[in-house]
Amino acid sequence: MTDISQEHRDQDRAGRAAIKLLAAHIKGRTVLAQLFTILSALLAFVPYLALVRLGETFIAAQQGVRPLDADQVSDIVMLLVTAFVLRLTFYLLSLTITHFADMRLRFVIRRKIVERLSRVPLAWFGRTGSGRIRNAVQDDTKTVHTVIAHAPVDMLNGILTPLVLLAFMFVMNWRLALVGIATLPFYFVLYGSSMKDMGPKTAEMNNNLANVSATMVELVSGIKVIKAFGKSGESYRNYAEAARAFADSYWEWCAPMIGRCAVAAEFVSIPVLLLVNLGGGALLHAMGLATLPQIIACTLIALVLPNAMMSVANITWSYQLAGSAAVRLVELMDTPPLEEPEHPHEPDGRPRVVIRDVSYSYGETQALRGVDLTLEPGTVTALIGPSGSGKSTLATLIARFDDPSQGSIELGGVDLRSLSPDVLYRNVSFVLQDAMLLNASIARNVSLPRPEASLEQIRDAARAAQIDDFVMSLPKGYDSVIGTDCELSGGEAQRLSIARAILADAPVLVMDEATAFADPDSEVEIQRALGGLVEGRTVLVIAHRLNSVVGAHQIAVMKEGRIAALGTHETLLDNDHYRALLAQGGFVPTSSAKEGQVDCHE
Ligand SMILES: Nc1ncnc2c1ncn2[C@@H]1O[C@H](COP(=O)(O)OP(=O)(O)OP(=O)(O)O)[C@@H](O)[C@H]1O
Ligand SMILES: [Mg+2]
Repeated sequence: MTDISQEHRDQDRAGRAAIKLLAAHIKGRTVLAQLFTILSALLAFVPYLALVRLGETFIAAQQGVRPLDADQVSDIVMLLVTAFVLRLTFYLLSLTITHFADMRLRFVIRRKIVERLSRVPLAWFGRTGSGRIRNAVQDDTKTVHTVIAHAPVDMLNGILTPLVLLAFMFVMNWRLALVGIATLPFYFVLYGSSMKDMGPKTAEMNNNLANVSATMVELVSGIKVIKAFGKSGESYRNYAEAARAFADSYWEWCAPMIGRCAVAAEFVSIPVLLLVNLGGGALLHAMGLATLPQIIACTLIALVLPNAMMSVANITWSYQLAGSAAVRLVELMDTPPLEEPEHPHEPDGRPRVVIRDVSYSYGETQALRGVDLTLEPGTVTALIGPSGSGKSTLATLIARFDDPSQGSIELGGVDLRSLSPDVLYRNVSFVLQDAMLLNASIARNVSLPRPEASLEQIRDAARAAQIDDFVMSLPKGYDSVIGTDCELSGGEAQRLSIARAILADAPVLVMDEATAFADPDSEVEIQRALGGLVEGRTVLVIAHRLNSVVGAHQIAVMKEGRIAALGTHETLLDNDHYRALLAQGGFVPTSSAKEGQVDCHE
């Protein structure tokens, strides 16, 4: 229990810090809005004051103490109306400012996220699901903006207005004021006692709720896999158990509160307040200690006080909800970006790739350890090695999906970190295990590296990649939107990404050979497509098939993140590791490619 409450306090603190950080973006506007709120709250008592004056004037006239002075009455009415209008105006002004601040905040947060995501290493997206990013941009900004933009004003109003009204009551008639707040201590003591120890219980309930979401997500997102293995019953049971645990903890959370909260609420209910204030007022009146207008004004104030105070409690609650959303947003905006050079260098025109002492880790997992490798212009280098030996990692680093944690990769004599992204992707194209297709038209998917390409150029590339016939057979042809108008098989997706690489016409090509999802016919087609692509380029191919290896100018054998051997097929035949790999039959279609349908990005 203490662990949970400590964790809860830490979460709370982190949430508040994150909210403060986000709120800094609209600090000026918030302060201005708060200024108007203060002005409006300070005027809160004036209408009541005018009401009392008016009542006293009428009563004095009726009792014949003082004749009715029309000027005085009109002065009081003027005061009442002016105060009312001013108060409304100030309030309206502060609301207008907060609303603009609100829009500004949402704009700033979203812009910052998009800006940051466009500079984040591509490898990061593999680790962070698109669901999480969408949640942050849509839901979290929504959760956070109300609290940050509105709460400072509402909170101030909720605290200051009751204080001003209380002060007014005490100055006007302290006995009536005491009657007016007589029921509040009962309310607070009862309410407070029911809220005692709520922190840890709330944390536990939140954890259970998170469990419900997690099992729900597992059930829904993995439904295909779960059904395929006949595990839907088990998965559903997990969900049902999590839901039951939540229901139990929710009951535990609210059961002790229900009774006490209900009784507490009675003390601030309208009938009780009327009874106490009018009754107490009548008593004081009979003793000559309060006037009728004072009683009415105090009763009216007593009626509005509890609501104003409760709005403060509600805001505190929404702060807790917004805290975790703010933490997620701040984390997202703080994702370390891939540095872009201020003064980019130009490569020397020779597409030589030099990999120098490169190491790379995914968190704790070290995937590459001091790799040295040179890809000479116009040659094919085949990369082979057991699953998990770091082949894909090395290939994606050449396309600068991320920077090495140690060492450097040079293209045409220039470190990748000193190239502008534009120049880099004009020089390096890639065909990877994941075909990386957008939820957009086929034409746009193919022309991504060269948006200005004509349909004829796109079709030429598609023809070379053996996919033009297929595209033309679709009702909408090259305008077919992937995922909406058509679904692609793994082989078709692969050939589209080959067409994209052909169109890009970059001197360096990085290829993660993936033929696992192709039937023999389309495998031949893919091979033919690749054959055209490789010619005359600097190629790094992650080879899964014997003929790509045998034909390569050099073969790098990877093992546990290192280059274990380097040579040609002939020279390596002496190498035990190489022979073992060949013997293991690693050079038939492997299972490292993904199954069936293709993921669409964007
Ligand atoms: N996104 C990731 N997050 C964490 N670890 C990763 C990630 N991608 C790869 N790894 C780890 O890095 C190491 C190298 O992986 P890599 O994908 O480069 O291997 P590979 O040689 O391409 O394997 P395969 O032949 O199966 O494709 C493995 O230990 C793997 O578990
Ligand atoms: Mg791989």
